[in-house]
Amino acid sequence: MALTGDIYKLMSTEDMLQGHAELCIHAYGFVKSMALKCAMELGIPAAIHGNGRGGGATLGELANRIALPPSRLPRLRRLMRVLTVSGVFSLQHQPEPAGDAVYGLTVASRLLVGDNDETSSSGLTRLVSLMLDPNLTAPFSGMSAWFMDDERPRSFFEMHHGEDMWDMAAREAALSSTIGDGMTDDSRFVVEVLLRESRACDVFRGLWSMVDVGGGSGAIARAIAAAFPHVECSVLDLPHVVAEAPEDGDVRFVSGDMFEYIPPADAVLLKSVMHDWRDDECVKILQKCKEAIPSRDEGGKVIIINMVVGSGTSNQGKDLKEEAQVLYDLFLMVFEGGEREEHEWEKIFLEAGFSGYKIIPVLGIRSIIEVYP
Ligand SMILES: C[S@@+](CC[C@H](N)C(=O)[O-])C[C@H]1O[C@@H](n2cnc3c(N)ncnc32)[C@H](O)[C@@H]1O
Repeated sequence: MALTGDIYKLMSTEDMLQGHAELCIHAYGFVKSMALKCAMELGIPAAIHGNGRGGGATLGELANRIALPPSRLPRLRRLMRVLTVSGVFSLQHQPEPAGDAVYGLTVASRLLVGDNDETSSSGLTRLVSLMLDPNLTAPFSGMSAWFMDDERPRSFFEMHHGEDMWDMAAREAALSSTIGDGMTDDSRFVVEVLLRESRACDVFRGLWSMVDVGGGSGAIARAIAAAFPHVECSVLDLPHVVAEAPEDGDVRFVSGDMFEYIPPADAVLLKSVMHDWRDDECVKILQKCKEAIPSRDEGGKVIIINMVVGSGTSNQGKDLKEEAQVLYDLFLMVFEGGEREEHEWEKIFLEAGFSGYKIIPVLGIRSIIEVYP
């Protein structure tokens, strides 16, 4: 008897049908991602937001606002059906006789109402575009080959593209902008939450100077300089990033390599940096940080903004937070990055010669970690 036949005989009909539905959902997870990407590229969140129906739009109104060719209208309904079932948009029905569906924004899609420019209102659109950039998603198809061959390059990004992400970004301006714009959106989001939380603000009180290492366009440093005008803020990043950074006088940009030298300051900020690197590399970065800051008694510290897997706050519940954290972690494995649990953080802090740390879980799925020399 065929093996598959045996497997079926071991399962009830109910379990077989449930399993089939579950496999469809898992296998077509990418359809959800691509539907989200399509909606952002078509400008659907902004079209719903700007429709003037109290933040809702019928299919016809939506089509009008995004100038959709009429022949594509039935397909737009199918796209919106996936995105409402998956919770990106909400769905109500107008009272009869019209009875048309009215699409609205949810807490997720409200963060995607942006004009994709350099204003502070661009939401998280460019961050989600970075998460879904084909340069990052395509290498996932080679993940199993990479797992089974330790002679291969160190990441499946490198296996796919023939070079690591930072080298490719230094060479390709488009990828560099995609990373820079996405991270700028993320930094503006984080700083908005951070400045509303007194426990988070306390981290920056009492500092006279701070260097944001791998600080990109300087969005966080600029916001900290504005909120705490006595703190002298600077940003250290790679030469091609600093060359593109908007200079504004409040923040000093320094071009360099964090593995070589970090300019001295009371505190070093590392936001969304450590999860890009292996443990041994993080230890090296932290050792350079330690050389740049004063002693613990003199107020020296490193401020890390990253995930502590299994820790953090989320109003949306434990399961959602856990799924977001583990998905983020595996996503970062594309370039051999990853998120860490508390014991993994502790190990690298101790190895780099730090004496203690405090986790401040006020950023949803992420935390602030103060690390003391
Ligand atoms: C994921 S981004 C985070 C940017 C910023 N901290 C934020 O959260 O918006 C990582 C940053 O590290 C920078 N970077 C990578 N390697 C570096 C190095 N060796 N020295 C300094 N910066 C580096 C990248 O150019 C990039 O801006």
